[in-house]
Amino acid sequence: MIVRKFRPTDLKRVYEIENMSFDQSYGIKIFQELYEMGIGFLVAEVNDYVVGYVMFWLKYENQGHIISLAVDKNYRRKGYGTELLAKAISILFLISDTIYLEVRASNKGAIEFYRQFHFKQDRVVPNYYESGEDAVILYLKSQ
Ligand SMILES: CC(C)(COP(=O)(O)OP(=O)(O)OC[C@H]1O[C@@H](n2cnc3c(N)ncnc32)[C@H](O)[C@@H]1OP(=O)(O)O)[C@@H](O)C(=O)NCCC(=O)NCCS
Repeated sequence: MIVRKFRPTDLKRVYEIENMSFDQSYGIKIFQELYEMGIGFLVAEVNDYVVGYVMFWLKYENQGHIISLAVDKNYRRKGYGTELLAKAISILFLISDTIYLEVRASNKGAIEFYRQFHFKQDRVVPNYYESGEDAVILYLKSQ
């Protein structure tokens, strides 16, 4: 498995992974636009097949910010999410001392995943998502 920079030819595959991972999709056009804006964008690849991705703002209100992270359903619990997040964190901590992200309150699996990295809860934002669901804001400070 390798973690490498996203390439435009990965777009369809990344969108497929996002689609199977979230009820509400950003849409393929947003991915393209974010990439063109120069965000951090990495993919995990196994035998030349993209199995996951992470997107992050390098500077967002002076903090690091994870935009989206997902692993193909058939490749979860194999450590690929960990590899992607670890790489994003190491890049973000070169330029920011705090990383934020938001996650659906019902997404207990992801919250547990982030807890393994020692992310802490900052606050809950009611009705954050279009569905009316609350978001939990998590943060991680560098040592
Ligand atoms: C969250 C997600 C990215 C994790 O990816 P992954 O490759 O399965 O994660 P890893 O295999 O690296 O997991 C590392 C550890 O995190 C924890 N963890 C991961 N998924 C978990 C789950 N569903 N429930 C409980 N703990 C979980 C476990 O401790 C796991 O270690 P273990 O498998 O040895 O028990 C993946 O489940 C996913 O794509 N979910 C849908 C999209 C999403 O929710 N993204 C995050 C919100 S932005």
